[in-house]
Amino acid sequence: MDSSMISAYRALNEAQAAIARAQTLDEALQEGLKAILKNCKAESGAIWYASSMGDDGDNPSCILHPYFWIGGSDLTSCMHVPGDGSVGRVYQTQVAERYLHFAPESDPATVSDFQDIEVNSMICVPFSSMKKNLGCIQFINKEGGGFFTNEEADVCEMMAMLAAMAIEENDNLQPEWSPGNTIMRVRGVTREFKNGDVVTKVLKGVNLDVYEGEFLVLLGESGCGKSTLLNIIGGMDHPTSGSFECFGEEYSNASQQQLTEYRRDNIGFIFQSYNLMPNLNARQNLELIASLVPKPMSADEALEIVNLGERKTNYPSQMSGGQQQRVSIARALMKRPRIILADEPTAALDYTTSIEVLEVMEKIVSEGTTMIMVTHNEEICRMADRVVRMRNGRMYEVTVNRRKAHANELVW
Ligand SMILES: Nc1ncnc2c1ncn2[C@@H]1O[C@H](COP(=O)(O)OP(=O)(O)OP(=O)(O)O)[C@@H](O)[C@H]1O
Ligand SMILES: [Mg+2]
Repeated sequence: MDSSMISAYRALNEAQAAIARAQTLDEALQEGLKAILKNCKAESGAIWYASSMGDDGDNPSCILHPYFWIGGSDLTSCMHVPGDGSVGRVYQTQVAERYLHFAPESDPATVSDFQDIEVNSMICVPFSSMKKNLGCIQFINKEGGGFFTNEEADVCEMMAMLAAMAIEENDNLQPEWSPGNTIMRVRGVTREFKNGDVVTKVLKGVNLDVYEGEFLVLLGESGCGKSTLLNIIGGMDHPTSGSFECFGEEYSNASQQQLTEYRRDNIGFIFQSYNLMPNLNARQNLELIASLVPKPMSADEALEIVNLGERKTNYPSQMSGGQQQRVSIARALMKRPRIILADEPTAALDYTTSIEVLEVMEKIVSEGTTMIMVTHNEEICRMADRVVRMRNGRMYEVTVNRRKAHANELVW
């Protein structure tokens, strides 16, 4: 057997094992795609699913949305109809398309989807089993700037078929979540810190859209730049380069005054430490904020939202960690922010009090507030609409949850 056959065999084996290990359909798809990408040494890839699950490829009302993808582009709001671009054509014809040396004019739709990276090699394969035409899977760019081979394209095609067969039994692949209006647009954001002659590159080009009303969870190993990113989108720091836009305003070069107004008018912050004044009770801690914002909520109303109506006169030392964190959430709610940024809000809490806090977060999102939460806890991802994973200063994977779990279903 030549070496390409061996690696093809290994790829198939690994992806099949990943699918077999998976406990849910989402996991099967994600792990399957990851295994294929890894073995084909692809830089990016996306599973596109069809919103209408008909067997005929030419249902004109059908739309293909990205369901899970890997790489530095944010595809969330991209879509194709049958026949539109490689994604639409492959769905319609069930015939794979291979552009081992991709030329931009051969598929402008792909260029526009992956606008944050230069596409130089692309394979798009049908994602369908014996019974169903689910969508297609796209593989973009070989790691290190190389090009896919025909053997790798064959492996991708076989893998996609295996993955589709693995989900044969499940009738509903369609996510319940669909993106609202884009309220935030982060493009090519970098952040460097200079210390004497030493320059540390922390963010290396982040591209991210945030949608109105979504619950977005940001995950990644310690030091990968999550808090740095949160500081930039919260208007507490400037990017070194790149653009950051929120509600149609560009803030990457904003003055301190403009950032202060941006934060005051739009953003509520929640941190791991509660930062409550120890000599003030819950209500007084909130009233302190009320004097700083234009149309504050009443302290009593904010405390009711976080289920602390009974504890208004308790001092921080008389409350559990979870209760204190809920006071700090109520404090963030006082200014009726459109966006809440939470940096590891449950990291200092035990399981039970974490769930209390997450239940409050869930309620706030269900009432229309956009939430971006940084966490190290994989289980919390199940509550999110989208999960964005970062590594080494870049975004590398985004998942749309087909079904969100409720806070009280999480276990760790
Ligand atoms: N002001 C600064 N000066 C120099 N380096 C900084 C500064 N702020 C952050 N860094 C560095 O940037 C990197 C990313 O930090 P950041 O706080 O964003 O990581 P994180 O992903 O939030 O990690 P954690 O999960 O541990 O909170 C770290 O290596 C950190 O040391
Ligand atoms: Mg951090």
